Amino acid sequence: MAKGYDGVTKIFHWLIFLTVAAQYAVGEFMPHIGRKTQEVGLVWVHIFLGGVVILLIVAAIAWRLTHHVPQLPELPGWQRLAATATHWALYALILVMVVLGWAAANSRGWPVTVFGVPLPALAKNGDRWAHTAGDVHTFLVNVLLGLVILHVVAALYHHFFLRDKVLTRILPG
Ligand code: HEM
Ligand code: HEM
Repeated sequence: MAKGYDGVTKIFHWLIFLTVAAQYAVGEFMPHIGRKTQEVGLVWVHIFLGGVVILLIVAAIAWRLTHHVPQLPELPGWQRLAATATHWALYALILVMVVLGWAAANSRGWPVTVFGVPLPALAKNGDRWAHTAGDVHTFLVNVLLGLVILHVVAALYHHFFLRDKVLTRILPG
């Protein structure tokens, strides 16, 4: 019986890791966004990469909902439950974050595109609620960081202390 992740899920996993890590770094180093901020430099990079993250997370969730991944039967029930809950929380949190970031970008008058293809505007330039969405987006960055740390510590613990197949089954090959 297959115990691993399919190739598509692995590709999504590591692309999401790379792009979300890049978004985190760019978001931290870009200038604070104010009324007069222009969409240039790191701000432009954040919105451009944002379009890529939107595409990736929607495609990854759609793929995952239609493709079952077998769980490792040797793991205790509570660990399987904790892993499943964390994984769906990560997918859901990133989805919420990208939608809020998208609306916040629109409220600053910046369209969001996926490789040049414009996405519909979720908010109008100057919309108050979408401005608040930007604040919530910024707050959720910390929640995401906490969840990712938990996830990575669990993966490394399984690999180096429990010495099971949890980490290797998501690695390439
Ligand atoms: C999950 C991936 C993402 C991460 C980790 C992330 C991270 C961040 C960080 C760290 C900030 C800086 C907050 C500060 O000022 O200290 C930020 C702000 C912002 N991000 Fe993202 N971001 C992500 C996805 C997106 C997407 C998809 C978009 C839209 C296409 C976006 C649009 C924005 C905007 C407009 C702001 C400014 C918010 C404001 O101050 O009004 N982000 N993001
Ligand atoms: C931004 C960073 C990351 C995010 C958002 C993330 C998200 C996810 C998600 C959503 C899953 C579930 C996949 C599915 O079942 O559809 C998953 C699985 C997994 N991730 Fe990550 N991940 C990140 C970084 C990492 C890193 C750096 C490692 C390794 C050190 C890692 C190791 C794993 C492992 C081992 C699994 C499979 C767990 C199992 O079989 O139960 N992840 N990740």
